[in-house]
Amino acid sequence: MLRFFLTPMMILSVTTVTLSQDLPFGEAALGSKKYDQYEKPEVCKSCHTDIYQQWTQAMMSQSYTHHWDEIEYFDLAVAHAEKVPELRGVVDGCNGCHTPLAYLAGDVTPPRPEEGSRANEGVSCEVCHTIVGVGEDPPHNFSYISSPGETKYGAKPGLSSPHHDTEYLALFEQTELCANCHNEKNPFGIWVKSTQLEWKEGPYSQEGVLCFNCHMPKALGKNAKMSEEDMVAQHLFHGAHDPGKVGGAVELRMHPDEREVFYDEVVVLSVQLFNAKAGHKIPTGSVEDRIVWLDVNATDSEGKVYHLPVDPKGFEGEAYTIASDELAYQDMGLPKGIDSFAGVQRDGVPVGDRIFRMPYLDPEGRMTIMQWNTESLGVDYRLAPRETKIETFTWELPKDIAFGMVTFEARLNYQKLVKPVADFLGVPDEESEVILINKANTWIEVID
Ligand code: HEC
Ligand code: HEC
Ligand code: HEC
Ligand code: HEC
Ligand code: HEC
Repeated sequence: MLRFFLTPMMILSVTTVTLSQDLPFGEAALGSKKYDQYEKPEVCKSCHTDIYQQWTQAMMSQSYTHHWDEIEYFDLAVAHAEKVPELRGVVDGCNGCHTPLAYLAGDVTPPRPEEGSRANEGVSCEVCHTIVGVGEDPPHNFSYISSPGETKYGAKPGLSSPHHDTEYLALFEQTELCANCHNEKNPFGIWVKSTQLEWKEGPYSQEGVLCFNCHMPKALGKNAKMSEEDMVAQHLFHGAHDPGKVGGAVELRMHPDEREVFYDEVVVLSVQLFNAKAGHKIPTGSVEDRIVWLDVNATDSEGKVYHLPVDPKGFEGEAYTIASDELAYQDMGLPKGIDSFAGVQRDGVPVGDRIFRMPYLDPEGRMTIMQWNTESLGVDYRLAPRETKIETFTWELPKDIAFGMVTFEARLNYQKLVKPVADFLGVPDEESEVILINKANTWIEVID
C-alpha cells in the first residue's frame, strides 16, 4: 500500500546505487558517513544560483545557526543531558534533523555556530538531494536514508548536468520526504511534531495537495544557469518565520446577536475562525513553543475601551486554552541550574483570551517547552485544516457605558515562542514578536 516505504532491497531496484550492505537510517546512521562525502552548498551555487539564494533565506539553511536553536540546544538540551545522562541519545538526535551532515559524520555535540564548522550548513542541498529512501513508516526522527555520491536525486526525469548525474525518485514528489524531519516521536513515545501526520488525516492529502504545492511552488524560470526555461520548484520553505505566510492563514468574522442593545442588557458576540490556508493544523511543528490567540475589545462612543474574556465551553483541559497569569515551564530549572524554579508566566497574553494550542506536559504534569521532556499532551485545541471554530463572548454592558455606537475588534495573533519563555532565556525579540493573522470588526448601538 505504501509505495514510498522502501526497504533497503527495494532501494537497490528503484535506484542505480549499487550497495553491498543495508544503508542505515535514524540513530543507526550516526557516524556512518564523513563530511567530505557531501558537497558544500557553495558548489551548487555556481550553477543553481537562484535556488541557492532562495535556500539561504529559508530556515532550512539556518536550522543549526539560528540563535534560538542554539539557545535551546546548548542551554536547555545539552545542559539537561549533562545532568541526566540517559538523555544523551535524544539530545544527539536533535542534530539528525537540524544538522544532518554533522550527525551522519558523528560530529556530535557539534561545534557552536560561531566556530564556522560544516555543521552550520544545516539542512543543505546535499542533505535532501542524496536521500534515496525512508526507513520508517510513518517516517519520523530523521528516518531518511542518505546515499551521497555522483547522483543527485530529484523529481524531474531525464535531466543532464555537467557536474553530476541526476536521477528521478518518486519520493521527491511525496510528503514522506518532508515527514522524515517534520514528524518526531520522543523517548516517552509522544508525537512531539506531527505536521505530516496532521496533513495526512486532513482534506489536502485526499486531494493530492502536497507540502511542495504550498512551500515549494513552481514558477517559470531556470533551475540552473545553463538549463532551459521550465516550471521550477522554488525553494522557499516559508513558514512561521514569514509573516506573509502566517498572515491570512485563518479568516475571521464576528457578529453580535442583536444590533440594538439596552444599556442594562447583555450582548453575545460570535467569532468564526476558518483555517483557510494551511495544509495542517495551526499552529503546527514546534507546537510546544507556538500560540495563536483571539483578543476581543469593545470601544464605546466616548472612546473607552473594554477587554472581553471568551466564554468557556466546558471541555476537558480547557483551562490551558484560556489565558491566565499562572506560572509554568518549571522544568527549565534543571538544565538552567536553578533550584526549585518557580517557572515563568504560562501565556503572557491578556487574561481571558482564547488560546489555540496543544500543551506539552512534563512527567510531573506541568507545561513544558522541552519537547524531549514531554510525557503527555494536553487538549488539542488547534485549528485543523479547513476547520471552522466558533468562539463566543457574552458581555454584560458595563454600568457606565456611553449610549450610542459600540465598535468591536477581534484580533487573531500568532507568536512563535511564548514571550515569558523568550525573555527568560534571552531569545532575540523577533522570535516572540506578535504577528497579526487576521482581524474582524462589528458594532452595536447602545440604547436607552
Ligand atoms: C556545473 C553546474 C552544476 C553544478 C555545480 C551543480 N549542478 Fe545540479 N544540475 C545542473 C544542471 C545543468 C542540471 C539539469 C537542469 C535541467 O536541465 O533542468 C542540474 C540538475 C540538478 C537537479 C535536478 C535533478 C532532477 O532529476 O530533478 C538537482 C537535484 C541538482 N542538480 C542538485 C545539485 C546539487 C545538490 C548540487 C551541489 C552539490 C549541484 N546540483 C551542482 C548543473 C549543476
Ligand atoms: C528540504 C529538502 C531540500 C533542500 C534543502 C533542497 N532541495 Fe532542491 N528540491 C527538493 C525537492 C523536494 C525538489 C522537487 C520539488 C518538486 O518538484 O515539487 C527539489 C528540486 C530541486 C531542483 C530541480 C528544480 C526544478 O523544478 O526544476 C534543483 C536543481 C534543486 N532542487 C537543487 C537544490 C539546491 C542547489 C539546493 C541547495 C541550495 C537544494 N535543492 C536544497 C528538496 C530540497
Ligand atoms: C533533514 C530534515 C528536514 C527535511 C527532510 C525537511 N525539513 Fe523542513 N525543516 C527542518 C528543520 C530542522 C527546520 C527548522 C529550522 C529552524 O527553525 O531551526 C525546518 C523548517 C521548515 C519550515 C519552517 C520555516 C519557518 O519559517 O519556520 C518549513 C515550511 C519546512 N521546513 C518545510 C519543509 C518541506 C516542505 C519539506 C519537504 C520538501 C521539508 N521541510 C523537509 C528539517 C527538515
Ligand atoms: C494548503 C497549503 C499547505 C500545505 C499542503 C502544507 N502547508 Fe505548511 N504551511 C502552510 C501555511 C499557510 C503556513 C503558515 C501558517 C502556519 O504556521 O501554520 C504553513 C506553515 C508550515 C510550517 C511552519 C509552522 C510553524 O508553526 O512553525 C511548517 C514547518 C510547515 N508548514 C510544513 C509543512 C509540511 C511538512 C507539509 C506537508 C506535510 C505542509 N506544510 C503542507 C500551508 C501549507
Ligand atoms: C525529527 C526531526 C527533529 C528533531 C529530532 C529535532 N527537531 Fe527541532 N525542529 C525540527 C523541525 C522540522 C522544526 C521546525 C518546526 C516548525 O517550523 O514549527 C524544528 C524546530 C525547532 C526549534 C524552533 C525553531 C523556531 O524556529 O522556532 C527549536 C528551538 C528546535 N527545533 C530545537 C531542537 C532541539 C533542542 C532538539 C533536540 C532535543 C530538536 N529540535 C530535535 C525537527 C527536529
